[in-house]
Parts: sequence; structure tokens; C-alpha cells
Amino acid sequence: MLLPRLLPLLLLSEGQAAVLRLGLRGTPRGEVSPAFLSLTLDASLARDPRYVALLSNPKLRALATALSPGFLRFGGTETDFLIFDPNKDSTSEERIIWQLQACGSRPVFAAVEKLLLAQWPSQEKLILEEHNWKKHKNTTITRNTLDILYSFANCSGFHLIFGLNALLRKAGLQWDSSNAQALLDYCASRRYNISWELGNEPNSFRKKSGVYIDGFQLGQDFVHLRHLLSNYTLYRHSKLYGPDVGQPRKHTQRLLRSFLKSGGKVIDSVTWHHYYVNGRSATKEDFLSPKVLDTFATAVHEVLEIVDGTVPYKKVWLGETSSAYGGGAPRLSNTYIAGFMWLDKLGLSARQGIDVVMRQVFFGAGTYHLVDANFEPLPDYWLSLLYKKLVGTKVLQVDLTGADERKLRVYLHCTNPLHPKYREGDVTLFALNLYNVTQHLQLPNHLSSKHVDQYLLLPHGKANILSRSIELNGRVLQMVDDKTLPELIEKPLGPGSILGLPAFSYGFYVIKNTKAIACI
Ligand SMILES: *[C@@H]1O[C@H](CO)[C@@H](O)[C@H](O)[C@H]1NC(C)=O
Ligand SMILES: *[C@@H]1O[C@H](CO)[C@@H](O)[C@H](O)[C@H]1NC(C)=O
Ligand SMILES: *[C@@H]1O[C@H](CO)[C@@H](O)[C@H](O)[C@H]1NC(C)=O
Ligand SMILES: *[C@@H]1O[C@H](CO)[C@@H](O)[C@H](O)[C@H]1NC(C)=O
Ligand SMILES: *[C@@H]1O[C@H](CO)[C@@H](O)[C@H](O)[C@H]1NC(C)=O
Repeated sequence: MLLPRLLPLLLLSEGQAAVLRLGLRGTPRGEVSPAFLSLTLDASLARDPRYVALLSNPKLRALATALSPGFLRFGGTETDFLIFDPNKDSTSEERIIWQLQACGSRPVFAAVEKLLLAQWPSQEKLILEEHNWKKHKNTTITRNTLDILYSFANCSGFHLIFGLNALLRKAGLQWDSSNAQALLDYCASRRYNISWELGNEPNSFRKKSGVYIDGFQLGQDFVHLRHLLSNYTLYRHSKLYGPDVGQPRKHTQRLLRSFLKSGGKVIDSVTWHHYYVNGRSATKEDFLSPKVLDTFATAVHEVLEIVDGTVPYKKVWLGETSSAYGGGAPRLSNTYIAGFMWLDKLGLSARQGIDVVMRQVFFGAGTYHLVDANFEPLPDYWLSLLYKKLVGTKVLQVDLTGADERKLRVYLHCTNPLHPKYREGDVTLFALNLYNVTQHLQLPNHLSSKHVDQYLLLPHGKANILSRSIELNGRVLQMVDDKTLPELIEKPLGPGSILGLPAFSYGFYVIKNTKAIACI
């Protein structure tokens, strides 16, 4: 047994280090999309379309760009209450912004932005209340709403996925596609390259609008949309995703199954949504509970079983996901502690075969955002950034002995080959310590000569794990200026080092020069 020469012995009072077993040979266990970690904007941002103008903020764009490439899904409950008016004049706020739009140019709209930000808290309250009380009103969006949204996605290096309103219905309950057609006409005229969805969480249409649409009908509506898309040169081969169902409860499972039988052939990936807990009742303990984290694995399993039984070989995506529904859990979803649910979800998703995970939300109402209303990046933003930089698409097997794997959770991927510091064959381990004491991880003997780069994330400041500020290897992460992100500096560990994870913490470790056959 290798002794941890570099660590004070008192840290080892819990016993010996847990020993890792890494699956480096043969083929990878799986492979995810290069857009695996993707983002969402909630359609509630357009509940009053003036607020969409906030997406022109240069700092917000710099923060988004750093997380590219990926998909940017614009959807959510409000999807089914947005009506496009091709003739309506846009608001003055939107017009000012749009005239100044072009990637790279800095919009001069400080006064407008200031006004919107001052009014945002009451707008946010309205959005969350309407959501909680399931009281929804139709909102008109304009050409400019689409222009700003597209420009935000495109200029930040994201591919836009736009959710069309599925609650516009004819008397016989079939989907009325006329508004979608108007929207497609406009987007095609601007040559916007967009992928599409139709409706959001159809399993709760009755609660939200009093209309019940069954899976068979929804499947037929998707077939109709596919025909409509094929009428446009630009959209003939565009992607269509759905049905964006909520958690796989019994009636939702039934809806998903019948949808896939009826419309599965016209979609490119199957999308569903997942949240661990209700934002209004979630506790700190929930965020640290192995049992709560494990409920996600069960949900994935249920969805994959339905897909395998109806449209096997279709990719499965988490089309919208976060820690807690209802906008997040206040003082939890926007702090360091949220990282346990986020990082574990990324790890488990890739391991179980989910191809893309879209994080609710990049920016917008609630507390589960990556960037807050002051355009400040939160801990989950930095966690996402590190994930993007260090973790590649190939998923490897890893387990450990000497600790409870539910409390010391480990995941292994090939290192992102685009990272300039690393080489093909390097691997990235990420680990979450849910023990209330420091845990130690030891590489197997055959890797004891390898150099390891540590990227340990710890909370910064007195609030501890409820902090909104985060340290990487002891340095606080913050923007250098509105357009410049900080360097993400590794801490090199010598060969044979023991990896120490303090109580309730998480981090990444790049094992260099591993020459893993599965990664080459
Ligand atoms: C939204 O507009 C559509 C089409 O006019 C209508 O059928 C629907 O009832 C409206 N929904 C609400 C909540 O007003
Ligand atoms: C943005 O638009 C340009 C020009 O239409 C296109 O070349 C580029 O691929 C787009 N970027 C994304 C991420 O879609
Ligand atoms: C649209 O974007 C997708 C995804 O980035 C890309 O694969 C496709 O080639 C683009 N289509 C056009 C017409 O540019
Ligand atoms: C596609 O275009 C054809 C010819 O203009 C039209 O007859 C058909 O109804 C359109 N399909 C849809 C789904 O709108
Ligand atoms: C750690 O958790 C255990 C139970 O798992 C408890 O007995 C112990 O008091 C806790 N220690 C600290 C330092 O909180």
C-alpha cells in the first residue's frame, strides 16, 4: 500500500484511501454528443418580450460563448402560450437593441438595460407566481423577439432549438399549425438555422390549460409538423425533438409510450425533463443525499425502457433539467451545494446513455440559473465551464473499493481532446464527496507514476457550502472584466499522490499520459 507521503497523517483518521479501479482498455463504455452539456432559456423570459433584450448584454454573451458549442433550447411552460404576430411592431426596447445587433459590436443600450433590470424583480415574481398557480396568459412575440433570440444563440456559438406552441388547437383537437407556419415563414426569410420542438410537458396540458391531448394525437401533430417543415428548403432536413414530457410518473409514461408509437418516427431524439425536488420544499439535506441523487438513475432507467420498447436506437435527451422545479430552491439552487446534483446528473447521464443534457436555465427567473440577474456567474456556471473544458465525450468505467460508492461518487471520461494542455489517451476523473469528512482516493498501482492535474472546487467565504462564490484550487473564480474569463489553473500533483477531497466537495482530476486504449 502506497503511503500518502505528502499529506498530514491526521487527515487519514478515517482509515485508508479508497482505491480506484479504472476501465482504460477495450472500447469506451459509451459516447455522448459533443453538445452533451447544453443550455436552456426558459420561454418565460418572453412572458413580457421586452426582457428578451437582456440577452444582448455583452458579459452574458461572453459567459455563454465560453460554454459553447452546444444547443440552446428556448422552451418551457410559456412555449404553449406564445403567439407569433408577424405584423406587430416590436417594442421600442427591442427595436433599439436590434438596430445595434451584430456579433461583436457592443450595443449601446445602457439606459434601456438599466430600466429593464430595475423592473426585473417584479417581473420575476410574476413569472414564478403564474408558474406556481398554473395561471397562464397568451403573450404576443414579434419578429424582433426571434431576431434577438437567434442572434444570442448564433453569436454565442449555440444552435437554437425553438419550442413551437402546441396548444393552438382546432375544434377536433388537432394541432392548428397556422401560427407555426407564420413563424417558420419569417425564420426562413431570415435564413435562421433552427431546430424545433412542439409543446412543453404535454402530460400537464390539462392542468395548465384545461385541454387534454393524448399521446396518439400529439404524435400525429408531430407528423404534421414534420410535413410542414419539409415544405421549406431550409427546414427540410432540420431536426425535430420531443415530446418534452415531465418526470416519468405513471400517466406520463403512458403518454410517452403512445406518443412514440404514433409520432416516434419523425423525431430525431426523445426528450424528457427531470428535477430532483420541489423548489419550495427542498432542503439542504436533499442536495447532499445519496438517496435523492439515486432517484435520477431510476428515472433514466424507466425512460430508456420505454424508448427501447418503441423506438430503439433513438437518442434520448434530457431536454430540460435542473435541481429543483418551480424555478429552483432559494438559497440552494444558486449556491455551491447545487453542484452535487448538477455534477452527479452529468456523470450518471453519460454513464446511463443519455446523449445530451440541457441545463435549465442559463439566465432567467428563479434561482437555478447559471448566471444571475446581475450577470454574475454562479458556482454551477464555473462547474459547467470546467466540465466543458476537461471532460470528453467518451465514457469509461470506474469504481472504487474502500468507501461507500454512493457517498463517494466517481465518474471517468476520456479527457476532452480539444484541451490544449492534454493529449489523446489522458483521462478525466471527477468525484463528489458526500461524506462529512475528508475522503482520499488512490490511483491503482499501475498508474502510480502518473502526474495528475487537480481542479478542486470549494466554496468561498463564510456561507460555506451555501456560498454563491467558488474557489478553484484555492483561488476565487471571477470574471477578469466583462469580456474576459479567468484562466482555469490546475494544481499539479506529483506521481503517487493521494487525491484528497474535503467533506462535501467535488473536483476534477486529469490523469496525464495515461495512454488509455479506450481513448485513442
Ligand atoms: C390563447 O390563444 C388561443 C388561440 O387564440 C386560444 O385558443 C387559447 O384559449 C388562449 N389561451 C389563453 C390562456 O388565453
Ligand atoms: C451563425 O450564423 C453563421 C452565418 O449564418 C453560420 O455560419 C454559423 O454556423 C452560425 N453559428 C451557429 C452556432 O449556428
Ligand atoms: C444547421 O445547423 C446544424 C447544426 O449545427 C448543421 O448541422 C446544419 O448543417 C446547418 N444547416 C444549414 C442549412 O446550415
Ligand atoms: C406543403 O405545401 C403543399 C403545397 O404548397 C401544401 O399543399 C401542403 O398543405 C403543405 N403542407 C403542410 C403540412 O402545410
Ligand atoms: C458525520 O456523520 C456521522 C453520521 O454519518 C455522524 O455520526 C458524525 O457526527 C458526523 N460528523 C461530523 C463532524 O459532522
